[in-house]
Amino acid sequence: MLNGELTAALNDQMVFEISSAYIYLGMAAALERMNLPGCAHWMRIQADEELIHADIFYRYINDNSAAVELQAIPKPEFDSSGVLAVFKGALKHEKIVTSRIDKLAALAMKNNSFATLNFLNFFVTEQVQEEKSVQEIIDQLELAGNSKEALLFIDNKLAARAAATAPAAAATV
Ligand SMILES: [Fe+2]
Ligand SMILES: [Fe+2]
Repeated sequence: MLNGELTAALNDQMVFEISSAYIYLGMAAALERMNLPGCAHWMRIQADEELIHADIFYRYINDNSAAVELQAIPKPEFDSSGVLAVFKGALKHEKIVTSRIDKLAALAMKNNSFATLNFLNFFVTEQVQEEKSVQEIIDQLELAGNSKEALLFIDNKLAARAAATAPAAAATV
């Protein structure tokens, strides 16, 4: 059973995950225009992953007999002046997500909603990986500097990212 405050916060996060997917889709399109198909592929999968996250929230709200409420998704705004700028924007966004998940966990604790706290555990851990994976790409792009060969090597590497799948750890009730 979720109270009104928790239901609203979980709905907000569900929509935020969808808007994250929307931002990453915009970033993927920007990377396509830079002729970096591997980077664009990586970002498309990042977008797919956010839709899976949104679905996990959707199912959790539903499973608790609470009302799923969709909201408007804002137009994505990010710096598309270069590949490094795009990935820095992605990291900045993931940091916002991390602070939102932490606030949500604090709210679950305040409401003694231990099921929600347990549910959020997946996202708390997931955010560590989300920040780490983007940070790694930023570090490699910075190492590459102005080397076109190194950039193409990174692009090839990112082209190998496997498709996003729903994590078993996030299976709900
Ligand atoms: Fe997410
Ligand atoms: Fe994410």
